Amino acid sequence: MTGPLASAVLPEGLRWDADRGRLKVRDPRLADIVLRDPHIITGVDHGKSARAGALPPPGESPTITQFFELWYTVGEHYPRFNTELRRAFTARVVGAFDTAFRDEADRCVAAMPPHGDLARDYLSPYFMHSTFLLIGVPPEQWPRLTKVARLVIHLFKQQLLGVTEYGEKQAAAFATAMHYLKRLTDQMLTGPGEEPFLLAARDLATIDASTWPIAALVGQLLMAGIEPMIVGSSIACRDIWSAPHLRDAIRDATVDVTDLAEEVLRQHPPFGNIFRFVTEPCDCLGVPLPAGTIVAIDVAAVNLHRTPAADPARGCPVRPSEVLTFGRGTHYCLGAYSARIQVAAGLRQLVRGRADLRLDLAGTRIDTHNNLKEVRAIPYRIGGGDAR
Ligand code: HEM
Repeated sequence: MTGPLASAVLPEGLRWDADRGRLKVRDPRLADIVLRDPHIITGVDHGKSARAGALPPPGESPTITQFFELWYTVGEHYPRFNTELRRAFTARVVGAFDTAFRDEADRCVAAMPPHGDLARDYLSPYFMHSTFLLIGVPPEQWPRLTKVARLVIHLFKQQLLGVTEYGEKQAAAFATAMHYLKRLTDQMLTGPGEEPFLLAARDLATIDASTWPIAALVGQLLMAGIEPMIVGSSIACRDIWSAPHLRDAIRDATVDVTDLAEEVLRQHPPFGNIFRFVTEPCDCLGVPLPAGTIVAIDVAAVNLHRTPAADPARGCPVRPSEVLTFGRGTHYCLGAYSARIQVAAGLRQLVRGRADLRLDLAGTRIDTHNNLKEVRAIPYRIGGGDAR
């Protein structure tokens, strides 16, 4: 793609990515402007999309495309959902789940086979279950919801890759998954659970005549949170098992694991870029930007611009508010506080509970090609023998 930006002289910290046709932002000051600028927005203008929020006809489930359009972040009720949900995800509220997360991590550590894949055999069940705990899913539903979450996560990743056409078989599997998700949501809304998320969801369920928006919200939270936590923890495990002093620091509690993980994620953020779109021509970045320009903020470059990478055994050298790993401004990650606690509990209990765990670092594959990094393999062995 060519355009005026391809040949413009750009200010320091901006680069035109000709291959992908987008403007790269690598400077913290310019990133801040992008994230607060009213001319530069997220994918859909809230409340202005005629399709966003359309409910499926009675008795039917949303198609895959409709499901993504039901996300609260693109719907007209975003401000109300945002206010209500933020209350259920504050540091204090999610901090109350810390012990439950540790217990769940211990259970998943104990259930690990003697060898296998760390993402599949430990990180995935742990992050699924700890998220189910947080949003109040009854434990007897965990196995089935895990399957549904896997399907939804797969479709989300496909969507990130630009896939919008789906085969008949996939559409049918999706319809079954959606009907289940809706039944489960209705059960949770009318059930005895009192988790802060459920209290918020009951309130939000009064906005629409149908509970599909709440079922979509549950699906969205599973999708938005679980995969980046698996990716972030896999990267942290790779680093921890590459450097024995990091394992010692966790075991001896000379570092707060939350801080250690913060530094690993500062250096290797699960989402490589934060995307925005110019809706009205503007020159807020010091160069005329035509409407329609795609802006990609390079998260790692911004994170490391002022303070270079440090030894994670010493924690993170900057304050969490200076890190872009979880975004900034209006769309700051809803699950940032819970993700930090969940990741820290998962790493701490693994290091302490499996002193004889070894990773096959040569066989570990973490693909950084797509915007959300992807764990392909992270082979492990407990006890003697070759980790391969
Ligand atoms: C290590 C794990 C995670 C990372 C790296 C991460 C990263 C991010 C980033 C960068 C954004 C901002 C996107 C933008 O501005 O365009 C975001 C937004 C969001 N995240 Fe997370 N996230 C993580 C975990 C979670 C979890 C556990 C949840 C579940 C509650 C979650 C739910 C959301 C939601 C709903 C938004 C949209 C917020 C809004 O638009 O108001 N995330 N996340």
